[in-house]
Amino acid sequence: MSTLQLWRTPAEVRAWTAAARARGQRLALVPTMGFLHDGHLALMREGAARADAVAVSVFVNPAQFGPREDLSRYPRDVEGDLAKCASVGVAGVYLPDVATVYPPGYQTSVDLEALTTGLDGASRPGHFRGVATVVTKLLALFRPEVALFGEKDYQQLQVITRLNEDLELGVDIVGLPTVREEDGLARSSRNVYLDVDERRRATALSRGLFAASARAAAGEADAATLTRLIRVELEAAGAREDYVAVVDARSLAPLTALTPGVPARALVAAFFGGTRLIDNVPLLLRAP
Ligand code: PAF
Repeated sequence: MSTLQLWRTPAEVRAWTAAARARGQRLALVPTMGFLHDGHLALMREGAARADAVAVSVFVNPAQFGPREDLSRYPRDVEGDLAKCASVGVAGVYLPDVATVYPPGYQTSVDLEALTTGLDGASRPGHFRGVATVVTKLLALFRPEVALFGEKDYQQLQVITRLNEDLELGVDIVGLPTVREEDGLARSSRNVYLDVDERRRATALSRGLFAASARAAAGEADAATLTRLIRVELEAAGAREDYVAVVDARSLAPLTALTPGVPARALVAAFFGGTRLIDNVPLLLRAP
């Protein structure tokens, strides 16, 4: 297995992508903020199945954190991340510092409209501007054939899919199903913040979502009934709800009722202690 390359600057990335293209290789990119877990590794393995070489970026992007959010304590483990990338055959990791991505004088950002007004966009003003900007920069730098993201951040995936279309970047944006712990909790770098009691209670998120998805599959179309199933679990677990929503799977517009054959999604964000977690599931209404 070839050794993992480490790139610190755009020039180093461009030298590698040019050489890889000269060898006729198709490239996959997995953008991350590090502290990698099995969900990220699934994205890398899928990247390897879809392309000849996989690159990973590890960059805790300050532009997507609000002033009262967890930027300074966001978990980091660069050595562990590099070992995990090497274990699944990643070709190289881009590890820029903040001044490389946003040098003095930097003033360009990418903003989306309707897709970012609700859900996390409402709770975390500016978050998706930061995400869209850094992902656009990474896609423009690597110009990968494929870029892979987890469905756990479902609104983010829709935002990236849309900006890729709107800006005609021509990347194949692939979303992979959420990787979960055995008890259903979605894998997230932020799970490390939970104490033992919060960790136990946090299973309420997936329990509520799975209950809603099962009821939809059994024929329940009413969005209020489905959201109530989720709220019951959150309340029983003593979680503080941020939002619970049933939306159109593409536009993320709120729905009052599911329609057979029209993909919908249930999304939830809730606090367990000081930790805000998000999760979501597809909703497929059984045809009458
Ligand atoms: O999902 C993440 O880890 C980040 O939001 C991303 C896509 C790497 C952009 O910083």
